[in-house]
This record gives sequence, structure tokens and C-alpha cells, in this order.
Amino acid sequence: MSKLLLIDDETDVQYSFQRIFDSPEIELTTASSGEEGLKLLPRVKPDLVVMDVRMGGITGLETLRRIRQIDSKLLVILMTAYGTTQTAIEAMKLGAYDYLLKPFDVPKLKDIIHNALKAASDMRQVVSYQPLLEKEDYELGIVGRSEPMQQVFKLIGQLAASDATALITGESGTGKELVARAIYHHSNRSQQPFLAVNCAAIPEQLLESELFGHERGAFTGATNQRIGKFEQCNHGTIFLDEIGDMTPATQTKILRVLQSGTFERVGGNQPIQVDVRVIAATNRPLEQAVAKRQFREDLFYRLNVVRVHIPALRERRADIRLLVNYFLKNFAKEQQGSPKSVGPGVIKGLEKYHWPGNVRELENIIHRALVVAKGDAILVSDLPAEITGEGAAAGTTVHLPDAGEAGTSDIALLARQLFQWARRDPKLKVIPEVERELVIQALKETNGNQVHAAKMLGITRATLRKRVEKFAIQRELSIK
Ligand SMILES: Nc1ncnc2c1ncn2[C@@H]1O[C@H](COP(=O)(O)OP(=O)(O)OP(=O)(O)O)[C@@H](O)[C@H]1O
Ligand SMILES: [Mg+2]
Repeated sequence: MSKLLLIDDETDVQYSFQRIFDSPEIELTTASSGEEGLKLLPRVKPDLVVMDVRMGGITGLETLRRIRQIDSKLLVILMTAYGTTQTAIEAMKLGAYDYLLKPFDVPKLKDIIHNALKAASDMRQVVSYQPLLEKEDYELGIVGRSEPMQQVFKLIGQLAASDATALITGESGTGKELVARAIYHHSNRSQQPFLAVNCAAIPEQLLESELFGHERGAFTGATNQRIGKFEQCNHGTIFLDEIGDMTPATQTKILRVLQSGTFERVGGNQPIQVDVRVIAATNRPLEQAVAKRQFREDLFYRLNVVRVHIPALRERRADIRLLVNYFLKNFAKEQQGSPKSVGPGVIKGLEKYHWPGNVRELENIIHRALVVAKGDAILVSDLPAEITGEGAAAGTTVHLPDAGEAGTSDIALLARQLFQWARRDPKLKVIPEVERELVIQALKETNGNQVHAAKMLGITRATLRKRVEKFAIQRELSIK
């Protein structure tokens, strides 16, 4: 049985509640002012409070404020005849569970109360937050207890003790950069610099000068001499991310540094000697690039001395619970609050999903769930539909473009999520303003490359072209 407390000074409302909620499952108590309601709280111990905003005596908002001091978790629904956004915002900020406009539609009222009572009972079942992790796990920042992750940890330890070149592989968002940093952090170069270069994000013509520097006048625009990353990083560790995206010329130069520790700045002829440890990463199978002659075979073997493969999250679902715990704790630290917990069914739902964006996607989803969660715990209803929706359970999830190609930046995840919802439910439309903004952001992130931008958005290139024309985006980005 659930206990419902109604606080409202209108006898009409009290009367309708008695009529509507007269059932063996609900015990209704009524109070006709905020003061009276507060007095009743300790005795009634309601699961849910429904309260008017405007009443004689203290207002509903003030009563809510005082309820929060007594019980920070009690679910409260506010009602008012005056629909000002300000009160609604204020109410939600004070932690109201929901907000209702009077006069209310009876089926809708029943629905909301029913959902709230269900949420209240879910919250009661929430196992209070329990630290699952040791302090050291946090310091390393890599979480995982599954067998494949244990292998990764062992390799990190072995690599840290040596100076060997390493190649880290794994889908997008699996934690390649994190692993690279952990190797560095535990190596005997940890007091020397660590520099990360994303080879895919830097335009081809600039990458070589970024890595090796250039002499004054080496090319148009090179008005000054520039020191490259390899020189800046002498005695340290360089992390070459997305190494598969390098031009053959740059590949040749990298191979030479790995073999002899020497290179020349662009436009220079003076060999420069450095001592730099190289850790490389890729989310594309380099073997295939080698077979297609896009990637030098000798460089591949040189990089592949020790290979650390990070399995996709769907191959180590046992880590999901631990990761969720870790993210909850981390976000709580950022917000300086106490960590929220998760309601029944949440972990199970997350464990079923196929995680195309891997750990990064999980992190984003927990982050968003925390923003929309109304109580002390994340409930299944706070998760996006494709994770918990009937579609997912029935195995009809729309498969998104390979995350490895499409990327897992916030914009990519958001776009794919929106377009996926729209595809699954024809009633839903992505409004043009949002669509336009997504297209602009994707083009910006890909430096105007329409092929990459379309992949990022999960739409075809032809569709992207049409959008660019429809929204007259060319001028804005000055793309051709
Ligand atoms: N095992 C883990 N424990 C805790 N956090 C993790 C773990 N793996 C990944 N993350 C988090 O997920 C996010 C993505 O990780 P990271 O940037 O290292 O992935 P990546 O493999 O380099 O992805 P990409 O190929 O897209 O560059 C980061 O915020 C990282 O902190
Ligand atoms: Mg990365």
C-alpha cells in the first residue's frame, strides 16, 4: 500500500482526490495548509506529497523548501492554476518530482500519481551506494575487472617497465588514450613530457610540420622557424593517436625516428637527434591498411612490437556495473555532492545494450541521466529509449553506422541518437533548427569534409548535400 499526502486548501480538490484515489492500494491523507502538512509528515510518513502552490499561510514553494530540510528524498508534486514558468523552474530546482496545472485532467492526474508512486517504490529498493572500487583504481583512472581488462592491465605494467614502442588498438571510446597515459605515468619517463598528437585531426599538410617542425621559408606562410613535437618531447613520450591517417611521407619520417632517432625539420637538412618513446593508437585495423598498401608494412611491424588490444565494451559487460559506479562517484566529486545510486533494472538494461560508442558512450549516458534524474537515483526512465526501449528488448534496435568511423564526439552521439529516435518513431521529427545546427557542427568538426560529416551524422552524403543547400549553410562556413 502507498501513502499519499494531499496539501490543498480547496475542499473541492480534497473531495475529488478522495473520489479518484479511493482504493485499497492507496491511503490518502489530506491537509489544508502547508503548516498542517508539515506537522503531519512525521506521523503519516507519505510516499508521495501532492501540494498546491498558492494556499493561505505559507506557500507551496516554501513548504517544499521545508520538506526538503526534513526529508531530502520525499517525492513532491506541485499543482497550480497559474502556469508561470518561473514557479515551475523554481519548483524543479527545489527538487519537485513533477508539476501539474489545474484544472487537471483526471486520467492524466492518475497517470502521474501512479508513475510517481512507482518511482517512490523503486527508490526504496535502491541498494544504497556501495564503493566497489579500491582507491588505487581511481588513481589509475582505468576501471575494469573483467578477464580481458586484467590482461590489458598486465600489459600496461610490463610496458611501463620498458621503453618499447607500443601499438594500442580498439574501437572508438574503448580507452586507448587512457591506457597510453597509464603506460607513461608508470614508466621511468613519467617526470619527462608526454605529448599527444591526433594525426586524424590535423590536416595532412600540417601534420609533418607539427611533428617535426619546419625551417623559416620552408613553405608559403612559414615565416618563422618552428620546433616540432618530437623535439619538444625529447626524453619524453609521444602519443600518436589515429596513426592510420598519416600520409606515406610522414610514415617514412616516423619510421626513421623509430629506427635511428633522427629526423630533419621540414625544409631543413640538418639531422636532429632525439630520444622519444612512441606509443601509437588506431581504431582501424592497420593490417588491412597494410594489405591495401596505404600503410607501410615495415612501419607497422616496428610499431606492433607490443600490441595492447582493448576489447569493446560489449565484450566485457561485466565491467559495466563497475564503470557506472565509477562515473557516479566521479560526477559526484565534480559537483561536490554525494554519489547517486541506480534503481532496479538500470544495470541490467545497460548490460543488454550493444554500446557502439563503448565506454565514452556509457559515460555520456550516465552524465545525461544524472541531469534528468529527479530523485536520489537514476531510474530506468532516465535512460535513452534505445537502451531500455521495447525495441532494444525485442532486438529491433536500429544499428547505427560503425562508431569507429562515425566518431563518438558529443555531436556525433547526439546526432545519431536524434536521428535514430526519428527513424524509429515517425511521429517524432528533428526540428529544422536543430538539424541545421547539427549539420553545421559536424562540418566544422570535420573541416568541411562532407564524407566524414555525413558519417558522423549517420546520414548519406546525398542527404547531407541536400541539407547544406536547404539550410543555406555554404555561406556560413565558406565551404565549396
Ligand atoms: N576502463 C575505463 N575506466 C574508466 N574510464 C574509461 C575507461 N575506458 C574509457 N574511459 C573513459 O571513456 C572516455 C573515452 O576514452 P579514450 O578517449 O581513452 O578512448 P579512445 O579509445 O582513445 O577513443 P577514440 O578512438 O574515440 O579516440 C574517456 O572519458 C575515458 O576517461
Ligand atoms: Mg582517442
